[in-house]
Amino acid sequence: MSGAPGFVRVFLMVGYNERRSQPPGNPMTTASTHHDSVRAVEWRDDALMLLDQRRLPGETALLRLENVPAVVAAIRNMSVRGAPAIGVTAAYAMVLAARAIPDCEPAGWLAGMEAARARLAAARPTAVNLEWALAAMMAVAHEHPRDQQALLAEARRIHEADIAGNRRMGELGSALIEPGRAVLTHCNTGALATGGYGTALGVIRAAAAAGKITEVLVDETRPWLQGARLTAWELHREGVPARLIVDSAAPLFMASGDVGWVIVGADRVAANGDVANKIGTYALAVAARYHGIGFMVVAPTSTVDLATATGADIPIEQRDGAEVFGDLDLPASVAVANPAFDVTPAALVDVLVTERGVLRMPDTAAIAALMSGPGVGGV
Ligand code: MRU
Repeated sequence: MSGAPGFVRVFLMVGYNERRSQPPGNPMTTASTHHDSVRAVEWRDDALMLLDQRRLPGETALLRLENVPAVVAAIRNMSVRGAPAIGVTAAYAMVLAARAIPDCEPAGWLAGMEAARARLAAARPTAVNLEWALAAMMAVAHEHPRDQQALLAEARRIHEADIAGNRRMGELGSALIEPGRAVLTHCNTGALATGGYGTALGVIRAAAAAGKITEVLVDETRPWLQGARLTAWELHREGVPARLIVDSAAPLFMASGDVGWVIVGADRVAANGDVANKIGTYALAVAARYHGIGFMVVAPTSTVDLATATGADIPIEQRDGAEVFGDLDLPASVAVANPAFDVTPAALVDVLVTERGVLRMPDTAAIAALMSGPGVGGV
């Protein structure tokens, strides 16, 4: 990635020990008075700024991206990750694409935009928010050919609508939580994974702010450690009580009786309610059902894909085996599989929280009805 043109690291600072009372100098972090203290993606000074998530929690490093190849590389290598954050990033990348196309007729310009769209869409296959945001940007491109300001306005609208939707989901999801118990979460679904605030972690933020939860049990989330490196960091910054556990400890904590809800995000919700999310989510849903614990999926409607009939049709990203074995000196003959996501059947989902409302035991009919209604901020 470092060889990608237009890719510049601009800022470095130590991040994990930052406290709320001392907002860090990093301009992509803000005072956390509203329980939302960090931004993964920002458009600033005519460029796309990303908080490099590969370097958290030890370092807060900003990347300044100025062209589409650099953005594709950043999505692939997980500098930016999380379904909605990838979508917002791709939207801003289309502004970069528009700028790079030489002056030409609208048809030639649109062909250039279509090529950029295809390149960005191929960066990661599972999170449908990527295709969703690119489709919205192409609609504006067709309506206002060569108009970079119109594209930037649409990217900003997508970004703001994502944050507004997350806040609404925070309210809706938090209202379902009875006070006095722990919640368990997987991966990172917070401000870092979205335009801001978070999906599942947004619900947890809202519930924590309302004094409803005793603690958050954070799965470390093998192999990339989104829970250990990112979710623990976000919760720590805001003083939310949290305990990090290895993924395989989750059922033990569920058996203790202290866990009220398992709360996760999604990368794609199929038309029948099946949910693709970070590998390990399916096991959590099975364990939650066994223990009689509610399983809540929190996802904006930009994550719902009516064009994908069932979970079996969702493309599952297979990542490099090196993420699994790390520094282990494995014999070369040992094969490694590294599916980044799994599919939880709709039958194991007790509640799907979206910005348009809450579905209990979501199914094809309920999802179709939900998707035909209005969203928050035109989402
Ligand atoms: O591989 P990642 O880190 O991009 O996976 C992220 C997840 O699986 C999240 O749970 C999902 O994108 C929802 S984030 C709001």
